[in-house]
Amino acid sequence: MARRLKLGILISGRGSNLQALIDACADPGFPAEIALVVSNKADAKGLERAATASIPTRVIDHRGFASRTEFDSALNDALNDAAVDLVCLAGFMRLLGAEFVRAWHDRLINIHPSLLPAFRGLHTHERALEAGVKLTGCTVHFVRADVDNGPIIVQAAVPVLDTDTPDSLAARVLVAEHACYPAAVRWIAEDRVSIVDDRVVLRDGSTPEAPVFSPCVTTTRRYTP
Ligand code: GAR
Repeated sequence: MARRLKLGILISGRGSNLQALIDACADPGFPAEIALVVSNKADAKGLERAATASIPTRVIDHRGFASRTEFDSALNDALNDAAVDLVCLAGFMRLLGAEFVRAWHDRLINIHPSLLPAFRGLHTHERALEAGVKLTGCTVHFVRADVDNGPIIVQAAVPVLDTDTPDSLAARVLVAEHACYPAAVRWIAEDRVSIVDDRVVLRDGSTPEAPVFSPCVTTTRRYTP
C-alpha cells in the first residue's frame, strides 16, 4: 500500500471527532495514520482516547506562553517533529495566528458544527434554534485566516426538529461530523481534492448524492466508507 498520510490532530476536550479518525485509521486500508495528537488542555478526554490507541500525545498549554505567536510556534515545532502532513483541528478551541495558518496553507483542516458560512463561532446549535432554521449540519473545510472560513470539503445537512434542544441537535449533528471528517481526510489522502479559485473540486468529478449515511443526514458529496 502507498505511504499513509500522517495526521496531526489538535484537540481541546472530549475528542469524539478524534475517535472517529482513530477508528477510521485503524482500518489498514485507510490512507492516513495519526502521527500525533496535541491538546492545549492537560485534562482533555481526547488524550485518553489517543493513549488507548497507542498514539503519541503532547500537551502544549497555551497558558505557558507569553504570546499567541510563541504558542503557535511550539505547536508548529511539535507537528514538524512528528513529520505531520495534514493538521486536523478536532474541537481545538484556540484561534491560530496568521503565520501558523500560512505555514500550513492547504494542509490544515477544521470541522465546524454548522453549515458554513452560517453560524461561525461558538454556540452554533443555540443560534440555529433561535434563527428557526429547518436544516443545520456540519462542515469540514480548509482553514484560512478568518475564523471558521475556507474552502469547503464536505458538508452534511441535519434536519432541525420542532422538539430539538441545543443538546439533542448537537448529538445528531455529531453523528454527521463523525462520518464527514474521515471522508474528508480520505479524499485528501487519496489526492482527490484540488483547490481551484479557493473552492474545493474533487478530481474524479464526484457529484452530489443523498441521502448517504443515515436516514436524517444528507451529504453534498458521495461518501465512500
Ligand atoms: C465538535 O462539535 C466540533 O465540530 C466543534 O467542537 C466539537 C468538538 O467535539 N468545533 C468547533 O466548534 C470549532 N469551531 P469533540 O471534541 O467531541 O470532537
